[in-house]
Amino acid sequence: MKTLKHFILGLCVCGTAVAGASLLTACGSAGQKGTVQAVDSTETADKNVVIETIMARRSIRKYKDQPVEREKLEKVVNCGINAPSGMNRQPWQVRVVDDEDYINGVTEIYKQKNPMVVGEEGFKNMFRNAPAVIFIASPKDGSGQLDCGLLGENMILAAQSLGLGTCCLGGPVRFMMDNEEAAPYIERLQLPEDYTLLYAIAIGYPDESPEAKPREAGKVQFVK
Ligand SMILES: Cc1cc2nc3c(=O)[nH]c(=O)nc-3n(C[C@H](O)[C@H](O)[C@H](O)COP(=O)(O)O)c2cc1C
Repeated sequence: MKTLKHFILGLCVCGTAVAGASLLTACGSAGQKGTVQAVDSTETADKNVVIETIMARRSIRKYKDQPVEREKLEKVVNCGINAPSGMNRQPWQVRVVDDEDYINGVTEIYKQKNPMVVGEEGFKNMFRNAPAVIFIASPKDGSGQLDCGLLGENMILAAQSLGLGTCCLGGPVRFMMDNEEAAPYIERLQLPEDYTLLYAIAIGYPDESPEAKPREAGKVQFVK
């Protein structure tokens, strides 16, 4: 009786899914659990926007002189905090900086320490010339870094899907941490006492379309 009830529920679930032209459902287990799995509303006959977004992303180091709308930045960070995290601890702090004075101010310190960058073609700022930066901080005890990585990739892909370019940045954050003169800029981020900067993401409208760098497919193996 219980099995029959579940079978009928499964049929209803699959029927609903079939009615939606672009929905794919896992109906195979309907007799056992009657649940819907893996509803993919993005896939049509030959197009999967998630996969296309992933494959189209490149690190961008040249940006248009165009600010990023706050609405878009909010969407991006909202996608970030919807990343999975161990036990849903959400062990991150996220700071969005689109203030020119902040970006140019800390870049002045960077330029003093690295005068050769001034001569670099197209150099605007130390965040790969982006008009905005998202700083990501993790707990000082070293935990949460994996979660913070997942948060960042969510933001990077969300940005790509909104027509924005990004570049994940370790170097500029290291510079800020290692140079006392940059401390006031870290203070302005108002991180909790037990958090430290981990990395940043430059974000803006791309002004270049770099080729994909080669990937080492041999590092992936299916185990026999
Ligand atoms: C943790 C991490 C730190 C990075 N730091 C920098 C950086 O400081 N400066 C930079 O220009 N790119 C940085 N990158 C970007 C990488 O150079 C880039 O992802 C890599 O070359 C692959 O190119 P792609 O992103 O275009 O596929 C960083 C990427 C990661 C994941």
